[in-house]
Amino acid sequence: MFPRFLDVPPDPCIIIILGASGDLTSRKLIPELFSLHRKGGLPERFQIVGCARSPMTTEQFRTALADSLHNVTDETQGWEQFSTRIHYRELIYDSGESYTELAGFLQELDADHRTEGNRIFYLALPMFLYGTTAQLLGEAGLSSQKSGGTGWSRIVVEKPYGSDRASAAELDTTIHRYFDEKQIFRIDHYLAKETVQNLLMFRFANAIFEPLWNRNYIDHVDIIACESLGVEKRAGYYEKSGVFRDMFQNHMMQLLALTAMEPPNRFETDPVHDEKVKVFRSLRPISEDGVFENVVLGQYGPGMVNGKKVRGYRDEDGVDPQSLTPTYGSMRVFIDNWRWKDVPFYLTSGKRLASKLTRISIRFKDVPVSMFGGVLEEGITANVLTLGIHPEERITLKFQTKNPGSKVCLRSVTMDFNYLQGYAGTVLAAYEKALLDCMHGDRMLFWHSEGIDLTWEFIEPVINQCEMCSDRVERLKPYEAGSWGPAEAAELKSRMG
Ligand code: BG6
Repeated sequence: MFPRFLDVPPDPCIIIILGASGDLTSRKLIPELFSLHRKGGLPERFQIVGCARSPMTTEQFRTALADSLHNVTDETQGWEQFSTRIHYRELIYDSGESYTELAGFLQELDADHRTEGNRIFYLALPMFLYGTTAQLLGEAGLSSQKSGGTGWSRIVVEKPYGSDRASAAELDTTIHRYFDEKQIFRIDHYLAKETVQNLLMFRFANAIFEPLWNRNYIDHVDIIACESLGVEKRAGYYEKSGVFRDMFQNHMMQLLALTAMEPPNRFETDPVHDEKVKVFRSLRPISEDGVFENVVLGQYGPGMVNGKKVRGYRDEDGVDPQSLTPTYGSMRVFIDNWRWKDVPFYLTSGKRLASKLTRISIRFKDVPVSMFGGVLEEGITANVLTLGIHPEERITLKFQTKNPGSKVCLRSVTMDFNYLQGYAGTVLAAYEKALLDCMHGDRMLFWHSEGIDLTWEFIEPVINQCEMCSDRVERLKPYEAGSWGPAEAAELKSRMG
């Protein structure tokens, strides 16, 4: 029986994870599929095939996953039953023959488990393998909507989608050779976060905010995604990527688009996507020589995080001791359209900051004239609407009231809504939601081709300038781990007055 949160169960299907021996599989994909299973969210006829290069039996694979699961959750009841759906296949990523064998195995599974030829290929692989894998899946007949005579085929691609505009376009061309756009699910787990999805509901299901949601009433917008974690075990990837490729081209751009977009005429994939694309098209380009008027870069040094001493970035395992990779970025962005002309959006993201904090703050303009000028000792604090995404999923509005008593004296108070307040139903974690949407074929919370291209077009000159400028060393501001980043970021804002 399916729980109430799923009115329509997904089709029977097989999910094939390529890159199954990696961290993403054991830390996120399997635990979240298992969690969906516990919530009753998976179709009854559902199988998982893990593929990787390492020789391993299905039994060994299941045992390794069970071990990792214990590091992620204490709730393991039901694992025995769930794990019988998991299989392992050795796959040589660049061998056509290997994919043909995989195709044969999938047909056998279809026959045994009546999964109807429906397949999701999840690329949990290093980016350089995406193109080859898509091609060889296609050549083995696995990309056909009608694989095995019935069923559908979808491909899920993790970020990073390219390392610059050209490589993203090349990847897109390769994937499109074998998969239609409607079969491609480019994942951005930020879009699957409940509170991020709530942005559209909040903005467009309430009549009171939209009239104020523009340059006439809003002074600036702050979008921050700060982390207390460091680079962890991902130095190999992060050294080449840095904060702009890792967080800005994707998550930060999506948060920006959802905050700034016009109301779509329907809450459906294409209209929502079209409105986001219009935001990306309206981004004011940052010319290479204007980059440092709009961008602050930082890199964490040693410090204390959550009461523990931590290493600086250059001392992390796998990081070049002379590394110039930014782990922090703060960027001022403008959207040149009628709604937002000249309203700065400050986007900030960094690793090893004081705490994990993701939120969007809308700072309204000051009151035009203060009639309290003669009686108040201090100025009037502007209203701020904050959409908290992590750790607190809440919406708060800061406004002024009179302090009780005879003296004329203002105080800032906060109206506060906790997102889970009054809700006892099922909540899906980001990957659970993304996997479920993919099984349903719902692409609204995934990146589309044009958005990827436009965001790369915008961010690429910034990255180029940061990586190639002659004063690169001086431009990278060190900050202490456990702080809120380099002081220069606050100066970026004050420069705007
Ligand atoms: C990932 C980045 O996409 O998002 C990581 O590659 C980052 O570097 C992570 O830590 C942050 O996600 P979340 O959901 O923890 O904010």
